[in-house]
Amino acid sequence: MAVEVTSAPMEVEPESRAQRVAREQNASLPWVEKYRPKQMDELVSHEEIISTITRLIDAGKLPHLLLYGPPGTGKTSTVLACAHKLYGKHFASMVLELNASDDRGIDVVRDQIKEFVSTRQMYTTAPKMVILDEADNMTSAAQFSLRRVIEKYTKNARFCLICNYASKIIPALQSRCTRFRFAPLSQEQAMSRTRVVAEAEGVKVADHGLEACIRLGIGDMRRCLNILQSTHMAFGQVTELHVYQCTGSPMPADVEQVLRWLLQEDFVTAFNNIWQLMTGKGLALQDILTELHNHVLLLEIKDQIKKAMLVASLSDVEHRLSVGTSEKLQLGGLVGIFQEAAKGIAAA
Ligand SMILES: Nc1ncnc2c1ncn2[C@@H]1O[C@H](COP(=O)(O)OP(=O)(O)OP(=O)(O)O)[C@@H](O)[C@H]1O
Ligand SMILES: [Mg+2]
Repeated sequence: MAVEVTSAPMEVEPESRAQRVAREQNASLPWVEKYRPKQMDELVSHEEIISTITRLIDAGKLPHLLLYGPPGTGKTSTVLACAHKLYGKHFASMVLELNASDDRGIDVVRDQIKEFVSTRQMYTTAPKMVILDEADNMTSAAQFSLRRVIEKYTKNARFCLICNYASKIIPALQSRCTRFRFAPLSQEQAMSRTRVVAEAEGVKVADHGLEACIRLGIGDMRRCLNILQSTHMAFGQVTELHVYQCTGSPMPADVEQVLRWLLQEDFVTAFNNIWQLMTGKGLALQDILTELHNHVLLLEIKDQIKKAMLVASLSDVEHRLSVGTSEKLQLGGLVGIFQEAAKGIAAA
């Protein structure tokens, strides 16, 4: 008995210390990284793309890939999971991963990439993988120089280009790759993953808190998880109100109130009320405008042309705000637009 007691800790001690360090490092990671899907089946979206890529890997026929789509939809995670599935413990020697933070000018293509793909590993016949993340940032000279490299070394390596805008990749590279578009996640998909993370972290959720995270995340899984984490950190409990307060977004009730003022009040009253609401609650006109746009689309307006003109005018205000004009003046513009359009529109 005594032997067991003294020998057991001796054996496990080094490992448990390493485990503890890993656990502590893991605990301090942002949730988006801590819960980055490690395997293909952990990805909650784009089933068809994932199953196609999985089938290609299983058949040993992976083509060059071009994955594109808006941020936070799982492009990088998919490729990394793919590479881990392909190479397992040989990941480090078989994969060259370059992203926007690395220099990827023409010299890197000529030297680093060419050198990596022109040699083969001795213990395997599998091709290597070059991951070019955020490839839409690469200069067109670097992209042009990649054309020949991709063709010449196809036997040795597969290229995987990831970007937000496919149009920023030169057509010659696009035609060498199989393209997959990653659409924003649906509300159900985002909800299922957010729920998994919330449960794993023991987050206290109430009053449609998760629904609010998903609504404000608008299909970007990274944003959903960041909102969940920051609300959890700031308030302890994740409720709809706390989520809106934490992100500084206008509550749906506030936006409805703004719309009522815009449609029913005279210019000065509407302007003053909205300005007071904005300064009182620290809201940005840009955020109000984004939400307002959804409400205006749902307004019952018989004259469709009038509705279209109203939405077009809202987009003008948004454009002006995005180039840094005065919020107060643009609010005046917004109220003015509704003064003209409100004639004949009943408040929703
Ligand atoms: N389909 C998904 N399933 C599960 N989690 C996801 C999914 N998509 C994104 N996530 C979560 O969001 C985080 C960011 O995803 P990822 O880095 O793959 O996005 P991305 O599409 O590469 O975005 P960007 O274009 O900004 O680089 C991941 O760490 C993961 O936690
Ligand atoms: Mg990415």
